[in-house]
Amino acid sequence: MKTLGLLAVMALLIYSCSPKSGASSSEKFAKYADSEGKTLFMDKCGRCHGYKLPETRSADKWVKVIDRMAPKARLNADQKAAVLTFVQQYAKS
Ligand code: HEC
Repeated sequence: MKTLGLLAVMALLIYSCSPKSGASSSEKFAKYADSEGKTLFMDKCGRCHGYKLPETRSADKWVKVIDRMAPKARLNADQKAAVLTFVQQYAKS
């Protein structure tokens, strides 16, 4: 009986330590501080094309890009502003 309990505990431990799926994309985003815009970006902006990361465009360029992409990603005005803040924060200078 004791051995069985121990086995159950070990199985639980092993299970809870196994890597979660999607770890690679959260690794890619680990360098950015967490924010609503970051979450939205990760959620909505990689569906049609791969992620176009913030540092690949300048802040000026992002204004135009987000204007075009917000309707595609079905962002409301608040979400659009949050994503724009996020990408501009890390934009290419
Ligand atoms: C419904 C599909 C779709 C979604 C969702 C989407 N995009 Fe796009 N995106 C496209 C298509 C199609 C293009 C290429 C045509 C174009 O540039 O308009 C593109 C192009 C781009 C480009 C390159 C434009 C350039 O001129 O350099 C960037 C950057 C980009 N998307 C960022 C984003 C971001 C950020 C989001 C999230 C807010 C997003 N996309 C969501 C379809 C999508």
